[in-house]
Amino acid sequence: PHADANLLPNAISDDGELTEIAYAKVNLALHVRARREDGYHALESLFVFAGDGDVLTGKAADSGAITLNIEGPFADGLDSGGGNLVMKAAQALREYLGESRGAALTLVKNLPVASGIGGGSADAAATLRLLGRLWNAHIPAPDLERIALSLGSDVPACLASVTQMVRGRGEVLEDVDLPGLAGTPMLLVNPGVGISTARVFQRWDQVDRGALAAESLERLIDGGRNDLEPAAVAMEPVIADVLAELRQSPGVRLARMSGSGATCFALFDDEADADSAAIDIKARQAGWWIMVTRIRAA
Ligand code: C5P
Repeated sequence: PHADANLLPNAISDDGELTEIAYAKVNLALHVRARREDGYHALESLFVFAGDGDVLTGKAADSGAITLNIEGPFADGLDSGGGNLVMKAAQALREYLGESRGAALTLVKNLPVASGIGGGSADAAATLRLLGRLWNAHIPAPDLERIALSLGSDVPACLASVTQMVRGRGEVLEDVDLPGLAGTPMLLVNPGVGISTARVFQRWDQVDRGALAAESLERLIDGGRNDLEPAAVAMEPVIADVLAELRQSPGVRLARMSGSGATCFALFDDEADADSAAIDIKARQAGWWIMVTRIRAA
């Protein structure tokens, strides 16, 4: 069962602790258009967000220092120092604001790392939202988006965490309200391999098979694809097993890889089908990470 994370993001507890959910990002389709001069790739991607994710809490610290404590199922081996995107986001915001107040942050890491569902990007965006609230900062949207992009290509889209058509290297955002998408049950499966996004892009062959349009869910299912799937499967063949498991699940509407992998998602019309698929796959693949969730409302 999944937590009702949608209810939590603006929670404030008695001791002044703020909470933000770093919602998992899923690329319902990801079309790579071209390699750019700067080495990044021009993309067209339909981003949706799950109702669940990492959980960031924070409160003011009198010391003026920013500290990060990481807990949860995927905390192991994560750097909680300056290399962490949460710390980088905090530092970038502090510099922009000329802020001298500190913060004590705790991240509950529920999402697998380097897995194509934007865990690090969502954490960075959640940090910007949380510290903006904690420090009472009113930051013009273009400035916030610029800071977000400096942290990673997916961070601007994660700021709002709503369904968006994403272009450019990730900074050209257009809100989309696709009928039939909000609330769709979604199963996320990761076989336990980490993938370097940069390396998957390096493997991608330049192809051009037409523009991606967010006209309807049907069109996205039939005409959409993830161009990075073949490259990622070549690097980690187990991704093909994940897709095969998802595609043979009863009631599945679409199964595809998210981002640069290795997490794959499946959409279902009925949550009961998503639940049984999760149970069946877990029984066969005990080591895989599996989450049943729903697409957030646009
Ligand atoms: O922006 P971010 O740091 O998340 O990207 C990681 C790597 O993925 C980049 O260094 C780049 O090699 C690749 N990338 C890309 N085109 C994009 C996004 C990422 O080539 N639009």
